[in-house]
Amino acid sequence: MDTLSPALKSLSSKVQALELTPDGVRLLDQTALPNEVRYLTIRTAGEMADAIITMLVRGAPAIGIAGAYGVVLSARESQQKGLPFAEFKQQLLADVDRLSKTRPTAVNLFWALNAMQAVIDEPTDSSAKLLERLTAKSLQIHQDDWKACQAMGQHGATLVPKGAGIITHCNAGALATGGYGTALGVIRSAFANDPTIKVYADETRPRLQGARLTTWELVEDGIPVTLVSDNMSGSLMRDGKIQFVVVGADRITANGDTANKIGTYNLAIIAQAHQVPFYVAAPLSTIDLSLTTGQEIPIEERDASEISTINDELICAKGVDFYNPSFDVTPASYIAGIITEKGIARPPFQESLAKLFEA
Ligand code: MRU
Repeated sequence: MDTLSPALKSLSSKVQALELTPDGVRLLDQTALPNEVRYLTIRTAGEMADAIITMLVRGAPAIGIAGAYGVVLSARESQQKGLPFAEFKQQLLADVDRLSKTRPTAVNLFWALNAMQAVIDEPTDSSAKLLERLTAKSLQIHQDDWKACQAMGQHGATLVPKGAGIITHCNAGALATGGYGTALGVIRSAFANDPTIKVYADETRPRLQGARLTTWELVEDGIPVTLVSDNMSGSLMRDGKIQFVVVGADRITANGDTANKIGTYNLAIIAQAHQVPFYVAAPLSTIDLSLTTGQEIPIEERDASEISTINDELICAKGVDFYNPSFDVTPASYIAGIITEKGIARPPFQESLAKLFEA
């Protein structure tokens, strides 16, 4: 079995970020959207690591799935080279390490690589058997994420008031997951129940995931969306246009602090100032109970060119300094609830999140 099951595929959003095929991993190049819909075939673990770093594939759950598929590509490569089992395994470990050094914030990558590592650690002395098990595990990770998104959509939709204006930040959609999306999964399910909701997408400086990706995938699926710049949420809320905020997450700590795309924290503060409920939608694979608070989350800093240029043209004075963290941490006190596949966790999150893992 080298692809998602047809039943799941037919139920998904039209948009699919990545797929394991007999040739490699078919990736939708997210750096080319929305102007070009271009698919690439990634054939080696090294190519997959580069694809994650350069954000051909991005979004926490999708990065995790890409990492898992990267391990399968490593096994396929070594098998094609006919490596003896000991070297086959050594190469797998080297590639797991390489994939783990791509992007630091989204915990889903490490969660998925740990799951693949557990398969590598199972006793076997056959490369073919190990490749088969790794393939099955990677597909399970992908399918489970898709199912989790569907469940989050159903739970989250129950929270959305009739005819609500909903704002989201970055892209937490089918492009960022195994399909359907976390925050956009909630929006998709809410729209299916009530087509009078009105969706606003923050443009999401500096890489414009909201403008380039969220609007594209919602339009693809026939869900009307209004694009706004990041600095508009205050006036939108003051004007009574927003009744619900939902965003995704890259890592949630045991106390509910949530790392997500830079600018999420600003949105949460503005929501609280206007008594608009601010929700996070994320699968359990995004929750990192090993960290106590958000201060422990490693925040990726990306290249200055992301903020100093637009379309390769300098937009600031030469010689200025730059600071470009890709994520920020929203303290738990701003979050009304965390929507997961197992239900909605409410404050105090220390208890409610722990309970979800016990269930
Ligand atoms: O830098 P990106 O595009 O990978 O950041 C993505 C986000 O911050 C998403 O909101 C998050 O990963 C959740 S995706 C379901």
